[in-house]
Amino acid sequence: MSDNSSKKRQRVLSGVQPSGNLTIGNYLGALKQWAREQQHFESFFCVVDLHAITVPHDPQELRDKTREVAALYLACGIDPEVSTVFVQSHVRAHSELTWLLNCITPLGWLQRMTQYKDKSAKQQQDSVSTGLLDYPVLMAADILLYHADAVPVGDDQRQHLELTRDIAQRFNHLFGETLTIPEAMIPLSGARIKALDDPLSKMSKSETGSEYHALYLLDPPNRVKKKLMRAVTDSGRDIQFSDDPERAGVNNLLELYAALTEQEHTTVEAHFANARGYGDLKKELVEVTNEVLAGIQQKYQALTAEEGYIDELLARGAERACEVADATLATVRERMGFLKAHA
Ligand code: TRP
Repeated sequence: MSDNSSKKRQRVLSGVQPSGNLTIGNYLGALKQWAREQQHFESFFCVVDLHAITVPHDPQELRDKTREVAALYLACGIDPEVSTVFVQSHVRAHSELTWLLNCITPLGWLQRMTQYKDKSAKQQQDSVSTGLLDYPVLMAADILLYHADAVPVGDDQRQHLELTRDIAQRFNHLFGETLTIPEAMIPLSGARIKALDDPLSKMSKSETGSEYHALYLLDPPNRVKKKLMRAVTDSGRDIQFSDDPERAGVNNLLELYAALTEQEHTTVEAHFANARGYGDLKKELVEVTNEVLAGIQQKYQALTAEEGYIDELLARGAERACEVADATLATVRERMGFLKAHA
C-alpha cells in the first residue's frame, strides 16, 4: 500500500483484555467485523494487558492469555500484514500518556463511570485499586495516541468513549488543537449475543459463575453441544425472532444462528418453519457453531504450533505502533511544557 492511500484512510483502534476466555459473542460482535473491515481502515488492534491488572491477577495467566488473545485475533481473520496487532504494555507511551491525561481529568468524571461503580461494588471496598478507577483514562490514552477516528465498541464501553472525547476536548482547549476526537463505531447486528444460561444479560468472557453461560472460541465440539443443548428456552415451540423477554432464550439462539450463517431473519425463520421444536434449532445450531469454531481453532493451532511465532509478530506490531504513539506523545509533552530530554 502506498503512503498516500494510508493517509486518506480513517484510523480505527480497538482492544480486548487478556482475561477470561474469548466468546462467540466477542467473535461475532467484534473480531469478525474488525477482520472484515480491516482493508477499509488503517487499523490498530491491541491486547490491553495493562487493563487486565486493574483487578487482582495471576502473572502466569496474564502471560498465557496475552498470547492467546493475540493468536485468536489472527485466527479470526485479522491479518498482521494489513492491521497493526500489538500488546498495549509493549508501547510505553500508553502508560506515560495516561499519567499526563490523569492530571487534566477531574476525579468526579471517573467516579461517575457505571463500569467502575459495578466492578468496585463487587469487590471488598478497601481492596479496590486506584487502577480500576483510572481504567478509562488508560483507555483514552490507547485511543488518543493513534489519533483514532473511529473506535468499534460495544454498548458497555460507550460511556468510556464519551469520556475519551471529553478528555481530548479538554486537552485541546487547555493546550491547543492536538488530539483527534474519536467517534464510536456501532457494531452491526449479531453483536448482542446473550448468555445461554441467562438470555437477558450479555454473554460475558469473564463470567465464571456457570459452566453453561458462554460459548468460548476454544471450546471443543462436545462442550459446545452440551452448552447449547442446555441453553435456556421457554415452554413454547414457535421458532421465531421476538422482543418478548419471555422468549429471549430462543431469540438469542436464532440471532446466533443468523449471525453464524450470515442469513437474514426472514430466511432463518423460513428455514425453521417446519421444525418440530426447539430441539431441531439447537441441533442445527450445534453444527453451524462447531463448523465456524473448527475453522478458527485450526488456524489457532497452526499459529501457536511454532514456539515464538506469535511473540515475533507482536514485536513487529509494537514497533509500528510505537512509531505512531511516540510521535503523538512527543507533541503532547511539548504542548504541555515538558523539556526535551535530549537537545
Ligand atoms: N475497555 C475495553 C473493554 O473492556 C477494552 C479497551 C481498552 C478498549 N482500551 C481500548 C477498547 C481502546 C477500544 C479502544 O472492552
